[in-house]
Amino acid sequence: MIILAIETSCDETAAAIVKDGREILSNVVASSVEIHKKTGGIIPEQAAREQVKAIIPVIHEALAEATKKLKSKKTKEQNSSSSVPLFLRSSVASIDAIGVTVGPGLIGSLLVGVETAKTLSWVWNKPLVPVNHLVGHIYANWLENKRTEKLTKLPAVALVVSGGHTDLVLLKKHGDIEWIGGTRDDAAGEAFDKTARLLGLGFPGGPSIAAAAKFPVSSDQLPVKLPRPLLGEETFDFSFSGLKTAVFREVENFRKSYISPQNPTSHLSLPTSALAYEIQEAITDVLVDKTLKAVQKYSVNTLLVAGGVAANQRLKEKFEQKILDLDLDLHIPPPRLCTDNAAMIAASAFYDYKPVLWQKVTANPGLTIAQL
Ligand code: KG4
Ligand code: ZN
Repeated sequence: MIILAIETSCDETAAAIVKDGREILSNVVASSVEIHKKTGGIIPEQAAREQVKAIIPVIHEALAEATKKLKSKKTKEQNSSSSVPLFLRSSVASIDAIGVTVGPGLIGSLLVGVETAKTLSWVWNKPLVPVNHLVGHIYANWLENKRTEKLTKLPAVALVVSGGHTDLVLLKKHGDIEWIGGTRDDAAGEAFDKTARLLGLGFPGGPSIAAAAKFPVSSDQLPVKLPRPLLGEETFDFSFSGLKTAVFREVENFRKSYISPQNPTSHLSLPTSALAYEIQEAITDVLVDKTLKAVQKYSVNTLLVAGGVAANQRLKEKFEQKILDLDLDLHIPPPRLCTDNAAMIAASAFYDYKPVLWQKVTANPGLTIAQL
């Protein structure tokens, strides 16, 4: 089954064509992040305007790329009898269904993708599958994954860590998700973004903190120790807003101590890389600890990590190290599939295939992970 998926929940305009939930035929992402870098965060109105500009060219490109890929595949298989999808004759005719992110996200951005998908569903007469963006992140783990057979071993615990959400869930079977825990305040990605801003690092904060976090000494020599909120407590809740306050205090104390009216020309600069290192350590320590406790409690053998923060290499390193002695299949998508894209939406639409009449599909910015 070939699914064309559309994803416009935030500042990325994405379209992808995926075969059988795993094989990416095209995956096009246009991002307005360069605009948001100037303001240090996303302005929803501006993000929505950029979505409107990009949506049609992005879908066009996804169709063209998939056609090209299948053409080269056909050339390679010319002498073999295996059948190639009839994409070449008409790329649109070869699409079996359309998947679209309906929430959660920014309403202005979501509407662009949802209304476009509804229009295409009607004009092309294709079934339309509404997809929860957070669930979509989990399904990035099925894309181009050589170990996919093992993924059929559900139930799995999934940690979804994005810019707006931090959720731990139990994926019992496709379409059946139980929420285990989540953040009480800021999401993990938000914690990276907000603390990066306090340190004067660029947006989005995750990649810039990761790049700045180069500390040459061992952690017990660090000049700062930040809290690990709710670590060790018997709960699957997370809380990251205290971290932001702690970093704010560190920055203020530094300014007061070294850059005072008595000492205005101090050449001492903020220990940015040490703070960045400690921020990354604090966030990843909590995420790994709580997730592995959930794995233990629910006795699962599969762990799926997903969302933009899953692109963090330190997080990956820690998970890999901690599961060495466990009978656990750990899956983390490659970084380009961790951040927002439409291929993951297509995979989710394939594995949890529930088409809905286009007239009944609506954007829902406040959707939670266990809904839909
Ligand atoms: O899933 P995503 O692309 O968009 C949302 O659905 O929110 O996640 C974006 C978040 C941002 O907060 C960004 O700072 C974070 O993912 N992020 C990272 C990394 N790459 C992106 N956080 C830590 N390390 C990274 N390498
Ligand atoms: Zn996302």
